[in-house]
Amino acid sequence: MATAVLGLQWGDEGKGKITHLLARSALMVVRFNGGPNAGHTVIDRGVKFGTHLLPAGVFYSGVTSVLAGGVVIDLDVMRREYEEVARHLGHGPVLLLAENAHLILPYHRILEELEGSGSRFGTTRRGISPAYCDKIAHVGVRVGDLLEPEQLRERIAWRLDLLRREWPQCEELRDLDPTNIVRGQLELAEPWMGCIVDASRVVEQALATGDEVLFEGAQGALLDVDWGTYPYVTSCSTTFAGIGTSLGIEGSSIGSRMGVTKAYQTRVGEGPFPTELTDGIGASLRERGGEFGTTTGRPRRCGWLDLVALRYAVRLNGITELALTKLDVLEGLPTVKVCCAYRVGGETTDRFPLSGDRLAECEAVYEELPGWKDSVEADTWDELPVAAGRYVALIEEATGVPVGLVSYGPSPEETLRRPL
Ligand code: IMP
Repeated sequence: MATAVLGLQWGDEGKGKITHLLARSALMVVRFNGGPNAGHTVIDRGVKFGTHLLPAGVFYSGVTSVLAGGVVIDLDVMRREYEEVARHLGHGPVLLLAENAHLILPYHRILEELEGSGSRFGTTRRGISPAYCDKIAHVGVRVGDLLEPEQLRERIAWRLDLLRREWPQCEELRDLDPTNIVRGQLELAEPWMGCIVDASRVVEQALATGDEVLFEGAQGALLDVDWGTYPYVTSCSTTFAGIGTSLGIEGSSIGSRMGVTKAYQTRVGEGPFPTELTDGIGASLRERGGEFGTTTGRPRRCGWLDLVALRYAVRLNGITELALTKLDVLEGLPTVKVCCAYRVGGETTDRFPLSGDRLAECEAVYEELPGWKDSVEADTWDELPVAAGRYVALIEEATGVPVGLVSYGPSPEETLRRPL
């Protein structure tokens, strides 16, 4: 059995809670994309964690966690997170690092500031796009390079030299010393030097056992570098296809593809958002949903659920089951709206455009439904308030995919499952 957990919006769908829930019965949990830009909120045995890099498998002994080749790793963030989780568990969980995963080095954050992508695109300022750019430009540093420190020092010295010539005024770049960078990286990585693996083979072997292997996505489909709202996207593949490139596996054995969506829409950072609510309803969704970034603390923009975008994300990922999160946040509204089409240039369309600028021209066409006053806290599907049940049914009808899980609070217990 293998399951992929994938975000269907602009990130922050609640994947952390869902993967944590599923991870308890897994053999292995593999994070396949992104870096410390992600923010997964996890409540483990009553303690709240905001993890950025570590897969949810780390919360269970007996589960092996893997950071795959498609991830960009900031060793400093990884180590701090690991130590926090190890203190909570009373022991260190098993964490393997793909030898072909790239490292975020101190100059990547500096470059992100110099290039101004933080203010232009609202990036998380974690050095993500400079690290992925170095990977694509053949000048990146990979986890496996830590095993050859002298060659690594030379590589970093050469890269720094190029950067200093490109940014001659930058004192921070001038102050960096390749020997110190290598020493720092080796110190941080020291506990994992024996855990650097060919993740493709390790995962292939785990899949062959027939036990549950969970592939944990970061961010969401609408932030995908190829299929998202370019250029207001992140720098990697956030969709199912990213698993294949990250791990060198073809993916047909991953039959269960769980797509996670909130019951409404949020976005953090710049970029178009047709269903954004800038009124009191948007503010109340933000307050009630605690919509402030786990990584940056930024307030998230909130709006009605966008079914055009959701259908598109379902198609991109081949989703087989939906997990609907934060349904409780809509409680008490007299009516709820969903966007069922876009109006653009006088025409109505149900197609999601391939660029951010084209999405900015789209106006949402809404369907309005009755709201519900009663709590969605339920033990069985039949106990959901009737209007909430209709809302869920509408999402299923629009996407053609069953909702197998409804989440109505951050704790694992606040979850309703429907066997499919
Ligand atoms: P970057 O990934 O830091 O380069 O940021 C690019 C865009 O993706 C920005 O709009 C970020 O706010 C957004 N982003 C990146 N990671 C996440 C996430 O985990 N949740 C929500 N938005 C994200």
